[in-house]
Amino acid sequence: MNCEWLIQLHRVFPERKCWKSSNAIRSHLDPRRSRKLDRLSKHLGGKVEIYAKREDCNSGLAFGGNKLRKLEYIIPDAIASNADTLVTIGGVQSNHTRMVAAVAAKIGMKCLLVQESWVLHEDAVYDRVGNILLSRIMGAEVRLVDEGFDIGIRRSWEQALDEVKSRGGRPYAIPAGASVHKYGGLGYVGLAEEVRAQEKQLGFAFDYIVVCTVTGSTHAGMLVGFAKDGRQRDVLGIDASATPPKPRRRC
Ligand SMILES: Cc1ncc(COP(=O)(O)O)c(C=O)c1O
Repeated sequence: MNCEWLIQLHRVFPERKCWKSSNAIRSHLDPRRSRKLDRLSKHLGGKVEIYAKREDCNSGLAFGGNKLRKLEYIIPDAIASNADTLVTIGGVQSNHTRMVAAVAAKIGMKCLLVQESWVLHEDAVYDRVGNILLSRIMGAEVRLVDEGFDIGIRRSWEQALDEVKSRGGRPYAIPAGASVHKYGGLGYVGLAEEVRAQEKQLGFAFDYIVVCTVTGSTHAGMLVGFAKDGRQRDVLGIDASATPPKPRRRC
Protein backbone atom coordinates (compact mmCIF):
# COMPACT_ATOMS: atom_id res chain seq x y z
CA MET A 1 0.00 0.00 0.00
CA ASN A 2 1.44 3.36 -1.04
CA CYS A 3 -0.01 5.67 1.60
CA GLU A 4 1.49 9.06 2.43
CA TRP A 5 0.76 8.68 6.15
CA LEU A 6 2.14 5.16 6.26
CA ILE A 7 5.37 6.39 4.67
CA GLN A 8 5.60 9.15 7.28
CA LEU A 9 4.98 6.69 10.10
CA HIS A 10 7.54 4.24 8.79
CA ARG A 11 10.04 7.08 8.61
CA VAL A 12 9.66 7.85 12.33
CA PHE A 13 9.18 4.20 13.33
CA PRO A 14 12.91 3.49 13.91
CA GLU A 15 12.90 6.35 16.44
CA ARG A 16 9.99 4.80 18.30
CA LYS A 17 11.93 4.22 21.53
CA CYS A 18 12.37 8.01 21.70
CA TRP A 19 8.67 8.75 21.21
CA LYS A 20 7.36 10.59 24.13
CA SER A 21 3.72 10.23 25.05
CA SER A 22 2.21 13.25 26.77
CA ASN A 23 1.26 12.38 30.35
CA ALA A 24 -1.16 15.31 30.33
CA ILE A 25 -3.06 13.52 27.55
CA ARG A 26 -2.42 9.86 28.40
CA SER A 27 -3.74 10.34 31.94
CA HIS A 28 -7.03 11.57 30.44
CA LEU A 29 -7.50 8.77 27.92
CA ASP A 30 -9.92 6.16 29.10
CA PRO A 31 -8.84 2.72 27.86
CA ARG A 32 -12.31 1.25 28.44
CA ARG A 33 -13.08 -2.12 26.94
CA SER A 34 -14.71 -2.20 23.55
CA ARG A 35 -18.47 -2.32 24.07
CA LYS A 36 -20.65 -4.93 22.43
CA LEU A 37 -23.53 -3.40 20.45
CA ASP A 38 -26.14 -6.13 20.98
CA ARG A 39 -29.09 -4.36 19.41
CA LEU A 40 -27.18 -3.21 16.30
CA SER A 41 -25.71 -6.72 15.86
CA LYS A 42 -29.25 -8.14 16.06
CA HIS A 43 -30.68 -5.45 13.74
CA LEU A 44 -28.10 -6.41 11.10
CA GLY A 45 -29.22 -10.05 11.11
CA GLY A 46 -27.40 -11.40 14.17
CA LYS A 47 -24.74 -13.20 12.11
CA VAL A 48 -21.94 -10.94 13.24
CA GLU A 49 -21.13 -9.46 16.63
CA ILE A 50 -20.30 -5.76 16.50
CA TYR A 51 -18.24 -3.99 19.13
CA ALA A 52 -17.47 -0.28 19.34
CA LYS A 53 -14.41 1.33 20.79
CA ARG A 54 -15.85 4.59 22.09
CA GLU A 55 -13.35 7.01 20.63
CA ASP A 56 -16.07 9.65 20.48
CA CYS A 57 -15.90 9.93 24.28
CA ASN A 58 -12.43 8.58 25.04
CA SER A 59 -11.49 11.36 27.42
CA GLY A 60 -12.73 13.73 30.08
CA LEU A 61 -10.61 16.41 28.41
CA ALA A 62 -13.13 18.43 26.38
CA PHE A 63 -14.92 15.11 25.53
CA GLY A 64 -12.01 13.62 23.54
CA GLY A 65 -12.40 12.13 20.08
CA ASN A 66 -9.87 10.85 17.56
CA LYS A 67 -7.92 14.11 17.47
CA LEU A 68 -6.83 13.73 21.10
CA ARG A 69 -4.81 10.59 20.36
CA LYS A 70 -3.16 12.41 17.45
CA LEU A 71 -1.97 15.09 19.88
CA GLU A 72 -0.59 12.56 22.36
CA TYR A 73 2.79 12.33 20.62
CA ILE A 74 2.79 15.83 19.10
CA ILE A 75 2.55 17.73 22.38
CA PRO A 76 5.88 16.53 23.87
CA ASP A 77 7.49 17.78 20.62
CA ALA A 78 5.73 21.15 21.05
CA ILE A 79 6.97 21.41 24.65
CA ALA A 80 10.52 20.39 23.64
CA SER A 81 10.51 23.08 20.93
CA ASN A 82 10.02 25.74 23.63
CA ALA A 83 6.85 27.00 21.94
CA ASP A 84 4.37 29.08 23.91
CA THR A 85 1.44 29.06 21.45
CA LEU A 86 -0.25 26.17 19.63
CA VAL A 87 -1.48 27.33 16.21
CA THR A 88 -3.84 25.21 14.17
CA ILE A 89 -6.61 25.34 11.59
CA GLY A 90 -9.96 23.69 10.89
CA GLY A 91 -13.57 24.32 9.98
CA VAL A 92 -15.74 26.59 12.14
CA GLN A 93 -17.08 23.59 14.11
CA SER A 94 -13.88 21.53 13.95
CA ASN A 95 -13.43 18.85 16.65
CA HIS A 96 -9.70 19.11 16.14
CA THR A 97 -9.45 22.83 16.95
CA ARG A 98 -11.55 22.22 20.09
CA MET A 99 -9.08 19.54 21.21
CA VAL A 100 -6.04 21.73 20.52
CA ALA A 101 -7.66 24.51 22.61
CA ALA A 102 -8.30 22.01 25.42
CA VAL A 103 -4.75 20.64 25.38
CA ALA A 104 -3.25 24.16 25.27
CA ALA A 105 -5.32 25.10 28.33
CA LYS A 106 -4.28 21.88 30.07
CA ILE A 107 -0.53 22.37 29.53
CA GLY A 108 -0.59 26.16 30.03
CA MET A 109 0.12 27.29 26.46
CA LYS A 110 -1.65 29.95 24.44
CA CYS A 111 -3.71 28.88 21.46
CA LEU A 112 -4.54 30.56 18.14
CA LEU A 113 -7.16 28.88 15.97
CA VAL A 114 -7.87 29.65 12.32
CA GLN A 115 -11.46 28.58 11.62
CA GLU A 116 -12.50 28.50 7.99
CA SER A 117 -15.88 28.02 6.31
CA TRP A 118 -15.38 24.36 5.40
CA VAL A 119 -19.02 23.36 5.75
CA LEU A 120 -21.97 25.20 4.21
CA HIS A 121 -24.48 26.26 6.83
CA GLU A 122 -27.48 28.50 7.19
CA ASP A 123 -27.60 28.65 10.96
CA ALA A 124 -27.18 32.29 12.08
CA VAL A 125 -25.30 31.29 15.26
CA TYR A 126 -23.13 28.58 13.67
CA ASP A 127 -19.91 30.41 14.62
CA ARG A 128 -21.04 31.12 18.18
CA VAL A 129 -22.11 27.72 19.53
CA GLY A 130 -20.75 24.19 19.97
CA ASN A 131 -17.05 23.47 19.45
CA ILE A 132 -16.08 27.04 18.65
CA LEU A 133 -17.82 28.30 21.79
CA LEU A 134 -15.98 25.68 23.87
CA SER A 135 -12.66 26.72 22.33
CA ARG A 136 -13.31 30.33 23.23
CA ILE A 137 -14.33 29.37 26.78
CA MET A 138 -11.07 27.40 27.06
CA GLY A 139 -9.16 30.58 26.26
CA ALA A 140 -8.25 30.13 22.59
CA GLU A 141 -8.01 33.13 20.29
CA VAL A 142 -10.25 32.39 17.34
CA ARG A 143 -9.74 33.82 13.84
CA LEU A 144 -12.67 33.35 11.44
CA VAL A 145 -11.59 33.12 7.78
CA ASP A 146 -13.97 32.91 4.84
CA GLU A 147 -12.27 30.11 2.88
CA GLY A 148 -13.65 26.74 1.69
CA PHE A 149 -12.51 23.20 2.55
CA ASP A 150 -8.93 22.14 1.97
CA ILE A 151 -6.69 20.25 4.39
CA GLY A 152 -3.50 21.45 2.68
CA ILE A 153 -1.21 24.15 4.04
CA ARG A 154 -3.29 27.34 3.98
CA ARG A 155 -2.11 30.93 3.67
CA SER A 156 -4.38 31.88 6.60
CA TRP A 157 -2.56 29.36 8.84
CA GLU A 158 0.87 30.61 7.74
CA GLN A 159 -0.25 34.20 8.43
CA ALA A 160 -1.37 33.16 11.93
CA LEU A 161 2.06 31.61 12.59
CA ASP A 162 3.78 34.81 11.36
CA GLU A 163 1.49 36.92 13.50
CA VAL A 164 2.41 35.02 16.68
CA LYS A 165 6.11 35.49 15.84
CA SER A 166 5.66 39.21 15.13
CA ARG A 167 4.08 39.62 18.59
CA GLY A 168 7.19 38.02 20.12
CA GLY A 169 5.53 34.63 20.68
CA ARG A 170 6.86 31.16 19.84
CA PRO A 171 4.30 29.29 17.73
CA TYR A 172 4.08 25.52 17.31
CA ALA A 173 2.34 24.62 14.05
CA ILE A 174 -0.23 21.82 14.11
CA PRO A 175 -1.75 21.15 10.68
CA ALA A 176 -5.45 20.54 10.05
CA GLY A 177 -6.69 17.47 11.93
CA ALA A 178 -3.10 16.98 13.26
CA SER A 179 -2.67 14.84 10.15
CA VAL A 180 0.21 16.22 8.06
CA HIS A 181 2.55 15.90 11.04
CA LYS A 182 5.08 13.14 11.46
CA TYR A 183 3.76 12.19 14.92
CA GLY A 184 0.07 12.58 14.04
CA GLY A 185 -0.70 8.89 13.47
CA LEU A 186 1.27 7.53 16.41
CA GLY A 187 -1.58 7.66 18.90
CA TYR A 188 -3.44 5.18 16.69
CA VAL A 189 -0.48 2.79 16.72
CA GLY A 190 -1.09 2.95 20.48
CA LEU A 191 -4.81 2.30 19.98
CA ALA A 192 -3.97 -1.03 18.31
CA GLU A 193 -1.97 -1.98 21.43
CA GLU A 194 -4.99 -1.08 23.54
CA VAL A 195 -7.33 -3.18 21.38
CA ARG A 196 -4.94 -6.17 21.58
CA ALA A 197 -4.99 -5.93 25.39
CA GLN A 198 -8.80 -5.80 25.32
CA GLU A 199 -8.95 -8.82 23.01
CA LYS A 200 -6.91 -10.75 25.58
CA GLN A 201 -9.50 -9.89 28.24
CA LEU A 202 -12.37 -10.80 25.91
CA GLY A 203 -10.74 -14.09 24.94
CA PHE A 204 -10.96 -13.55 21.15
CA ALA A 205 -9.55 -11.33 18.40
CA PHE A 206 -11.75 -9.14 16.19
CA ASP A 207 -12.00 -10.31 12.55
CA TYR A 208 -12.14 -6.76 11.17
CA ILE A 209 -11.50 -3.30 12.51
CA VAL A 210 -13.53 -0.57 10.78
CA VAL A 211 -12.47 3.06 10.94
CA CYS A 212 -13.74 6.36 9.55
CA THR A 213 -11.20 7.91 7.14
CA VAL A 214 -10.91 11.52 6.03
CA THR A 215 -7.24 12.43 5.70
CA GLY A 216 -6.15 8.82 6.35
CA SER A 217 -3.78 9.45 9.25
CA THR A 218 -5.96 7.70 11.88
CA HIS A 219 -6.26 4.75 9.50
CA ALA A 220 -2.51 4.72 8.78
CA GLY A 221 -1.67 4.63 12.50
CA MET A 222 -4.00 1.66 12.94
CA LEU A 223 -2.49 -0.15 9.93
CA VAL A 224 0.97 0.18 11.45
CA GLY A 225 -0.30 -0.85 14.89
CA PHE A 226 -2.17 -3.92 13.65
CA ALA A 227 0.69 -4.90 11.31
CA LYS A 228 2.52 -6.03 14.44
CA ASP A 229 0.50 -9.25 14.39
CA GLY A 230 -0.05 -9.32 10.61
CA ARG A 231 -3.59 -7.89 10.69
CA GLN A 232 -3.11 -4.73 8.60
CA ARG A 233 -5.41 -6.11 5.89
CA ASP A 234 -8.20 -6.48 8.44
CA VAL A 235 -8.37 -2.72 9.04
CA LEU A 236 -11.09 -1.28 6.78
CA GLY A 237 -11.36 2.47 6.26
CA ILE A 238 -14.71 4.04 5.30
CA ASP A 239 -14.33 7.40 3.53
CA ALA A 240 -16.24 10.23 5.17
CA SER A 241 -14.61 13.13 3.35
CA ALA A 242 -17.27 13.23 0.60
CA THR A 243 -14.34 13.83 -1.78
CA PRO A 244 -13.41 10.17 -2.50
CA PRO A 245 -10.76 10.94 -5.18
CA LYS A 246 -8.67 12.87 -2.64
CA PRO A 247 -8.27 10.11 0.00
CA ARG A 248 -7.87 7.61 -2.87
CA ARG A 249 -4.92 9.68 -4.16
CA ARG A 250 -3.43 9.80 -0.68
CA CYS A 251 -3.77 6.04 -0.07
C1 LIG B 1 -14.82 11.22 14.56
C2 LIG B 1 -13.80 11.12 13.45
N1 LIG B 1 -13.26 9.91 13.17
C3 LIG B 1 -12.35 9.77 12.20
C4 LIG B 1 -11.96 10.84 11.43
C5 LIG B 1 -10.95 10.63 10.35
O1 LIG B 1 -9.69 11.03 10.74
P1 LIG B 1 -8.52 11.18 9.68
O2 LIG B 1 -8.55 12.59 9.19
O3 LIG B 1 -7.28 10.89 10.47
O4 LIG B 1 -8.73 10.21 8.56
C6 LIG B 1 -12.49 12.11 11.67
C7 LIG B 1 -12.04 13.26 10.87
O5 LIG B 1 -12.52 14.34 10.91
C8 LIG B 1 -13.44 12.26 12.72
O6 LIG B 1 -13.99 13.47 13.01
